[in-house]
Amino acid sequence: MRAEDTPLIRLEDYRPSDWLIDTVDLDISLHPTKTRVRSLLGLRPNPAGRPGAPLVLDGDELSLSALRLDGLLIEDGAYSATSQKLTLHAPPRRRFTLMIETEVDPSANTKLMGLYRSSRVYCTQCEADGFRRISYFLDRPDVMSVYTVRLEAAKLEAPVLLSNGNRVAAGEVPGEDRHFAVWHDPHPKPAYLFALVGGALDHVRQNYVTADGSTVELAVYVEPGKADRAGWAMDCLVRCMRWDERVYGRNYDLDVFNVVAVSDFNMGAMENKGLNIFNDKYVLADPQAATDGDYASIEAIIAHEYFHNWTGNRITCRDWFQLCLKEGLTVFRDQEFSSDERSRPVKRISDVRTLRATQFSEDAGPLAHPVRPRAYKEINNFYTPTVYEKGAEVIRMLKILIGEDTFRAGMDLFFARCDGTAATIEDFLACFAETSGMDLSQFARWYDQAGTPTIIASGRYDADARSYTLDLAQSTAPTPGQRDKQPFVLPVALGLVGQAGDLPLKTSSTAYASDGLVVLDQPSLSITFSDVAEPPIPSLLRGFSAPVKLELDLADAELLRLFSADSDSFNRWQALQTVATRALVGAGRFAAGCNALLATAGELSHALRGFLRDQAPADPAFAAQVLRLPGQADIAREIGRDVDPTAIHAAHRALSAEIGSSLGPDLLALHEALNAQTAYRPDATSAGRRALRNEALGLIALGSPEEGARLAQAQFAAGDNLTDRLAALAAMTLVPGDAREELIARFARTYATEPLVLDKWLMAQALIAEPGTLERVRRLMQHPAFSLSNPNRIRALIGGFAANLTQFNRPDGEGYAFVAEIVVALDRTNPQVASRLLGSFKSWRMLEPGRKALAEARLAMVAQTPNLSRDVADIAERALARQG
Ligand code: TRP
Ligand code: ZN
Repeated sequence: MRAEDTPLIRLEDYRPSDWLIDTVDLDISLHPTKTRVRSLLGLRPNPAGRPGAPLVLDGDELSLSALRLDGLLIEDGAYSATSQKLTLHAPPRRRFTLMIETEVDPSANTKLMGLYRSSRVYCTQCEADGFRRISYFLDRPDVMSVYTVRLEAAKLEAPVLLSNGNRVAAGEVPGEDRHFAVWHDPHPKPAYLFALVGGALDHVRQNYVTADGSTVELAVYVEPGKADRAGWAMDCLVRCMRWDERVYGRNYDLDVFNVVAVSDFNMGAMENKGLNIFNDKYVLADPQAATDGDYASIEAIIAHEYFHNWTGNRITCRDWFQLCLKEGLTVFRDQEFSSDERSRPVKRISDVRTLRATQFSEDAGPLAHPVRPRAYKEINNFYTPTVYEKGAEVIRMLKILIGEDTFRAGMDLFFARCDGTAATIEDFLACFAETSGMDLSQFARWYDQAGTPTIIASGRYDADARSYTLDLAQSTAPTPGQRDKQPFVLPVALGLVGQAGDLPLKTSSTAYASDGLVVLDQPSLSITFSDVAEPPIPSLLRGFSAPVKLELDLADAELLRLFSADSDSFNRWQALQTVATRALVGAGRFAAGCNALLATAGELSHALRGFLRDQAPADPAFAAQVLRLPGQADIAREIGRDVDPTAIHAAHRALSAEIGSSLGPDLLALHEALNAQTAYRPDATSAGRRALRNEALGLIALGSPEEGARLAQAQFAAGDNLTDRLAALAAMTLVPGDAREELIARFARTYATEPLVLDKWLMAQALIAEPGTLERVRRLMQHPAFSLSNPNRIRALIGGFAANLTQFNRPDGEGYAFVAEIVVALDRTNPQVASRLLGSFKSWRMLEPGRKALAEARLAMVAQTPNLSRDVADIAERALARQG
């Protein structure tokens, strides 16, 4: 497939389906290679469609074995069937049923879309368009049906048979070693939410009584022998169900809720109605096999999928352009849940780190697109940080702008009005326009314009008038296909920080919305605060109130004041990051600037020394974030053009090493003091202590490698949990030598039977910033822990390598050649995973000319490969397209 030959699907071309499917009765007889699918569709003409239109059902790699209309055979000329399409040329202009029989081979399904097998477990993935790989259907989210599903399988092979909704019958097939189960889901849903699971699975189970008094049977299914690792996921599920009742008034709506963990999965998890299917990485947890980070991700993703029950399932999307309607909103909801369960500022800081690393870089490159794209060739390429994370930021801004109570009222209205429908962003925004009385048409530009806006800010204090004037301007660089941008609505939460903390804010400006909030909705504005008793330091974008870049010229000394005195934790953290970023950008840009870098290291060390002694003990999780410098990719993005990864790496190492050595004794003391006295617990407080301790370990390893190596080895040996052991391994990877190789080997022996732990081991090695890494990664591809057929293994080793700034971007281009070669090979079996991997090239345009040419050449080679999937062809084409 050449990308040029693929049709472009456009939002403006949307029209309602000509046909509706009210009911779907599936009868599926599971077999490893010959699964029979009998589908009985209850069809009727859509009053909103074109009368007398043909019926065209979607298919993908299907073969038709039988077809009946109202129970009768159809004559040959009345229909046509290909692997891609089943057409009835002149269907009756009334209700009728269509019985369609197909046969599929789940064992041969390496794309992991549709029905496939993962470690002998039958499972499905239908979003976005996988159902058409099971049966011919109107595979679009605005066609919603009530499903009844009969599953049949060999008893031994698949003792557990699950589908959506409630189980209404089960039994034996007389005279055979087979059994069946019938599931009925009373809630109409689009095909992308259909799911089935069949296999030998263990489970944990718990009853839950909803706020409105109905009892729900919750279960988490895992591979045999792993039930003792399902407890955390169950605990998270119960907590997020309560939270959705309390915070949004949303109760669960079926008698059962099932979660199933499988080991081969293209993404994180899937919100199928009543039957969420997960990548096992986001379910299984115990202290020996999961890190604190894993516990937190499991909590977030269990919540995310559960929250989809209302934002995604009860209210779904009219078409795939509206994807952010469910994803952005649901990410926002899961972020808020985690904030309530853990530390709000720390959660915000880590979310903003992710946003900048993934979304800002997407928005700055050739794959930039609006939160609601207007056209696509392959929808699976639009499950992006822009749709998800920036989509969540848009909801957060809406809440800031209209206020908490009005936001909740708008959500209530949305649930009441749109329940049971396939809705649009317009439907959603109308609810908030109504409850707030505000005109949200300018705000809606957030959905239509790509690119990260920049706010340019400057302030002046007038001592005579005792006033402070703040000038704010916004601009947004061009993105593919969008040259001129209209001004966004930017909520700027702010404070003026004086000697003794926040100064009172008095102004008559209309841009001042409420307590500490300025709304910048013009290209520029000027706002004057009166009765300002002393020259203040502005603290802008508190809590990161808008997903923008900020240019504000504060001296290091002023930023360090904010770090110690700002009442906003996010901006305290940001102030120090800004000091470090500025120094690293300077040094990384000119591959010189060593003196300036040393001076900054001195300032930072001084500030950190006091902080670590006086404040870190009270909030270790926050302190860990403070201690972590901006990443090398962040510096590359800040530099933005002619990027030399080697210079950035050198500057980053130099700054870290300098801080590490000048804080040496303090870091050692901290590392010792935070040594846990009690057994592992995954709660946020305990995790925060480990995070701080392990940040300290990393800095020690860079500052004094011998000391670091000694400490890391001891920590590995003493570790009673994976968090500390993995941190020891990571610290050790910074110190080349035999001891490192020994620890790497020892780690592999210790966790030889734990694939998910070995993924981290693979990744830690793929991230080593040394020229030997490419060879090491090639060698690891032969290791029994690796497999090109499992997405988690690929993301760990190859994805890890592609995230290794200096080695992926080797000056000889071999890093690009290697990743491109894997993309092309993988494309034949799993295009979704291949195309995500190709996304690693998204920042190629900002590189210095030598690397840029090499990266472009590799992308061009990928693009010219014959028989590419639509997924990979689309990414290659867009990555190469002329900018602007
Ligand atoms: N809707 C899922 C979520 O956000 C993610 C998803 C989309 C997905 N497409 C997928 C998962 C394909 C696996 C495979 O929770
Ligand atoms: Zn989602």
